[in-house]
Amino acid sequence: MEKTFKNSHFRNNTMDFQNILYSTQGSICTITINRPDKLNALNYQTIQEIGKAVNTANADEIIRGIIITGAGQKAFVAGADISEFAHFSSPEAEKLSRDGNDVFHRIEQSAKPIIAAVNGFALGGGCELAMACQIRVAAEHARFGQPEVNLGLTPGYAGTQRLVQLIGKGKALEYLMTADMIPAAEAHRLGLVNYVVPAAELIPKAEELLNKIATKAPLAIAAVIRCVNDYFTDGVNGFESEIREFGKCFATNDFKEGTQAFLEKRKAEFKGN
Ligand code: COA
Repeated sequence: MEKTFKNSHFRNNTMDFQNILYSTQGSICTITINRPDKLNALNYQTIQEIGKAVNTANADEIIRGIIITGAGQKAFVAGADISEFAHFSSPEAEKLSRDGNDVFHRIEQSAKPIIAAVNGFALGGGCELAMACQIRVAAEHARFGQPEVNLGLTPGYAGTQRLVQLIGKGKALEYLMTADMIPAAEAHRLGLVNYVVPAAELIPKAEELLNKIATKAPLAIAAVIRCVNDYFTDGVNGFESEIREFGKCFATNDFKEGTQAFLEKRKAEFKGN
C-alpha cells in the first residue's frame, strides 16, 4: 500500500538505506521494512538499518514517536532471512543472534515510543521485532508466531524471553513448541497486541496513539519506558528506578509547566526539558 504525502513536513530519506524506507511526517517517523518479495525477511543488513533508523529518529528533536511496519499487504516480517543463515556455523549464528539482540534491545530502550504496525505475517524475527516495540497494533489479517522449531532452531532475537513477558510462561511455551501461528484476535486476547483494526486503519491507529503520547512530557515518557524495562532487567530494582526517575522529574521544566498548567486550568505545553 503506497502512501504519498503532500504535507510540507514530509521528508523521505531512503538514500542511506537499501532495505528500509525512512520517512517523517510532522512528529512521526515511519520505518518501513522494504523487501516485499521476501516477505520483508530480516537479513543482517536490514536489522542494522532498522537500528540506524531508530537512532536517527531518536536524535531528531522534531520526532516524538516511531512506527515500524512492513511493505506490502502480506507481511510485517516473515522472520529472519533463512537463506542468509542456512550455512552458518555455530559461532556465526551466535554473532548473528547477539547483534540482532543488540538492535532489538535498543528498540526496547528507545526514549521515544515505537509502535509496531503489524500489517501481516509477524513470524520469528518479525514477532520478535514487534515484541521489542513498546506497543503493537495489528491488522485483522495479521498472524504472529515463533516457528523456529520447524527449522531445528530456537528463536534468536529474544522470542523466548519477550513472549513470556507478554503472554505468560504457559501459553508462550505452547506457541514456542508447537510453532502454531497466532491469529490477530487471539494475539489480542493474550495481550500480545494492544489493538486489532481493519488494515486500512492500521497506520491511522498507530498515528493516533503516537499523537496522543506526543501531547505528554517527553522526558516523563522516556522515564516510564526505562522504569518498565527495569522491571524485567536482571539485577536492577525497578521500584528503585521509579523512585529515582520520579525525583528527577521534579528538576525538569516540563514538570513545572505540567503542574502550573493544571493549577491554571489550561493545557500544558511541554518542551522536553
Ligand atoms: N527468509 C527468507 N525468505 C523468506 C522468508 C524467510 N523467513 N519467508 C518468506 N520468504 C520468501 C520465500 O522464500 C519466497 O521467496 P521466493 O519467491 O524467492 O521463493 C517469498 O518470500 C514468498 O514466500 P512464500 O513462502 O512463497 O509465501 P507463502 O504465502 O507461500 O507463505 C509464509 C508465507 C510466511 C507462511 C512462508 O513464507 C513461511 O513459512 N516463511 C518462513 C517463516 C519462518 O519460518 N520464519 C522464521 C524464520 S527463523
